[in-house]
Amino acid sequence: MNIGIAFDLKADFLSQKPADAPDDLFEEYDSVGTVDAIQRALESRGHTVSRLGGGRRFLARMLEAAPALVFNISEGHGSRSREAHVPAVCEMLGVPCTHSDPLTMAVTLDKAMAKRVVASAGVPTPRFVVLEELRDMERVELPFPLFAKPLFEGSSMGIRKRSRIEDRAQLRERAGQLLHDYAEPVLIEEFCGGAEFTVGLLGNGERSRVIAAMEVEPLLVPRTEFVYSLEVKRNPDWADEIAYNVPPKRPRAEVERIEKVALDAYRALGCRDIARIDVRCDTAGDPKFIECNPLPGIAPGWSDLAILWERIGKSYDELVLAVLDEACARARLP
Ligand SMILES: Nc1ncnc2c1ncn2[C@@H]1O[C@H](COP(=O)(O)OP(=O)(O)O)[C@@H](O)[C@H]1O
Ligand SMILES: [Mg+2]
Repeated sequence: MNIGIAFDLKADFLSQKPADAPDDLFEEYDSVGTVDAIQRALESRGHTVSRLGGGRRFLARMLEAAPALVFNISEGHGSRSREAHVPAVCEMLGVPCTHSDPLTMAVTLDKAMAKRVVASAGVPTPRFVVLEELRDMERVELPFPLFAKPLFEGSSMGIRKRSRIEDRAQLRERAGQLLHDYAEPVLIEEFCGGAEFTVGLLGNGERSRVIAAMEVEPLLVPRTEFVYSLEVKRNPDWADEIAYNVPPKRPRAEVERIEKVALDAYRALGCRDIARIDVRCDTAGDPKFIECNPLPGIAPGWSDLAILWERIGKSYDELVLAVLDEACARARLP
């Protein structure tokens, strides 16, 4: 089968970065090494692979000669619906595509929308307020500490140790900075000061299932202050700062509660094929939905999902092929 990979490379965007933009502006985009690794995995099954890229280049290639299936890791560009661009084009042209459909992609990138959907399905998530402008701060009546982040970013963009907020002065300073840097609304949430997990999920419909939960354990700071921030993720000596525990070193019943929050959210959001869902406990130990990544990064040895997959003893190729198998079964492809 001919499979086209849709992707956006960090290198293609760096030249467009305004001088005063935050240094994580293109953090979500991929490196060519990830595309190479996906291509190798698909070729190991005997498929022929074409590189479609993203944006207009992707559109032109799809109109010229569409593949039998698109393997999608394209983050898109420019709006809170950006992750929906590639699946929407595929849907319009009748070409099967891996990962979630445009609706799920768009709903999950807007973290408040995702929280409203999962909450309506009975999945616990921290209480929140969306600030469109700094003046909206007056509406924040949640108890401190709070957490502030851009409404529709991922890959730790705008997430720093100082995203945990202790008082109104910090709220004003941090929210003002985020509104300025990302030119989009800011999500203010109750801070969950308990254990942190990210859960890998695979499958469709009744066959949706948890791959594993991975605890992200802080080694240098107490849990009540920990933020799995860009500083931590970029630290070349990250192993000094955090431990990734797969499975979490916790009683099975506790892990099952975490996994249930993630699986219920996966279903409520209508995820397809694969996703990674962040769950964090509050200080009472109750797990809460934080966010859903229906297009989880799979940079080998680097992305959380690739690490989680490695820790359950499976190869990188098996990860790529697991996604492919789910998409093919769903689209009734051989
Ligand atoms: N409400 C919250 N309470 C406590 N920690 C939070 C909260 N929201 C986010 N965090 C911390 O910030 C990290 C990144 O937030 P997240 O929403 O997952 O952003 P990203 O899309 O960049 O991964 C989380 O892994 C967690 O450590
Ligand atoms: Mg996250």
